[in-house]
Amino acid sequence: MNLSDRKFVNILIVEDEDASRNGLVEYFTLKGYKVFSADRLKSAFEILNSSAELENNKDKIDIVITDLKLPDGTGLELLKSIKEGLNQNAEVIIATGFSSVKTAVEAIKLGAYDYITKPVNLEELDLLISRIISNKNLIDELNILKNRLDEKYNFGNLITSSRKMIETVDTAISVSGTNSTVLIEGESGTGKELLANIIVNNSKRKNKPFVKVNCAALSETVLENELFGHEKGAYTGADSLYKGRFEIADGGTIFLDEIGEISLKTQTKILRVLQEREFERVGGSKTIKVDIRIIAASQDITQKVSNGEFRKDLYYRLNVINLNLIPLRERKEDIPLLVKRFLGDFAEENGKKITGLNKEVLDILLNYDYPGNVRELKNIIEYMTAVSKNSVIDESSVPGYLKKINQKKEADSDSGGKDFIKIPFGIGLEDAENIIIKKTLERNGFNKVKTANDLKIGLKTVYRKLEKI
Ligand SMILES: Nc1ncnc2c1ncn2[C@@H]1O[C@H](COP(=O)(O)OP(=O)(O)OP(=O)(O)O)[C@@H](O)[C@H]1O
Ligand SMILES: [Mg+2]
Repeated sequence: MNLSDRKFVNILIVEDEDASRNGLVEYFTLKGYKVFSADRLKSAFEILNSSAELENNKDKIDIVITDLKLPDGTGLELLKSIKEGLNQNAEVIIATGFSSVKTAVEAIKLGAYDYITKPVNLEELDLLISRIISNKNLIDELNILKNRLDEKYNFGNLITSSRKMIETVDTAISVSGTNSTVLIEGESGTGKELLANIIVNNSKRKNKPFVKVNCAALSETVLENELFGHEKGAYTGADSLYKGRFEIADGGTIFLDEIGEISLKTQTKILRVLQEREFERVGGSKTIKVDIRIIAASQDITQKVSNGEFRKDLYYRLNVINLNLIPLRERKEDIPLLVKRFLGDFAEENGKKITGLNKEVLDILLNYDYPGNVRELKNIIEYMTAVSKNSVIDESSVPGYLKKINQKKEADSDSGGKDFIKIPFGIGLEDAENIIIKKTLERNGFNKVKTANDLKIGLKTVYRKLEKI
């Protein structure tokens, strides 16, 4: 976390003891946070009430650190009012003496984030706050994503006219209202994540958390930590409780992207989540139950299952509803539609007047096989829109690699897929024969048997001619 994050974090310290309060205010101000303080409940409520009225989220209190015993009430009362609606998004940390640990545990049940014992260890408290912020950032990202989904990702954003694709999307939409686990398969860039978004957006869980995890991007340990969270003290550096993504997704949906990349050990743990909807945090023994809908995606899970790299039982659990996205080269009819949409989007984004592309360019686009599927086509259109100087995109804006591939294809098709041998005019028949034999040999990696077969001559003839070359 960097300092610029911190100055947007508002902390309220509620503590009646002047020295402790001032110490905390000074420490966290120095750390770069925006700090408010109150010496009793009444003034704490005043600050929270006025912050609750603010339109701008940036000025709302994010974290409250409160003493348990205050002159005009208890920290628990404050906690209750916060969680009951005063500012439900604020996280509360209770500071308590050793004698009141029991009350502190009660506070956790009431929704406090954690408690710390007095005298306060400032570093411990700072770590706790950092943890809250990173969790909050994650949730904010999810909320932003959720809002974006509302605006953008209805079915209207997935463009296709291919019968197979329409069937797949129809199935996706018809199962979106259920809680069934979905496995989306497809090559890179075929729209797996887009389809997952559509399922969530059409489901009852639409306004609940939608957590995405790219399983390929994280090592085994980090992934387990991220998925299951950890208890305070689970290992060195685990200074506070950390809620994993399964827990954060509670009530909503989790998208396990590239699930084929998960190690066999983690697969076992995930199998339990799938079967029982329960798990323990790393280093913990308390079983946590969650209500989640699971959507998984992979490019090559069936292959991993047959290699023994992916558990069969987990695969069957995931594969309740299978949605297979076919590659773009098998639905070329989608290319003109996608081009039209992407051109429109990028032209608008870049403030350019682009009306279309000429026939040569469309032919190039239709002739290509797109190993990167729709994402690759989208990138190509973005590039062409950016570099085009004309309102109709012509060949000069086509990315170089695509031009080369196209030129080669054209040459191949003119020659029926074969290379040519160039023979100059005016040379004698014997020399021409020699050139033909030499070139055919080269092309066949000097395999004389194959050359003889290609040229429909005897092997001996090849040897005889070779002596002369
Ligand atoms: N049918 C479609 N209509 C419109 N846009 C699409 C379509 N399919 C994919 N896209 C766009 O192409 C890009 C890649 O799609 P997405 O990220 O969903 O693919 P993916 O299968 O998850 O790829 P990867 O396996 O590489 O993660 C996104 O920008 C997405 O919006
Ligand atoms: Mg993806």
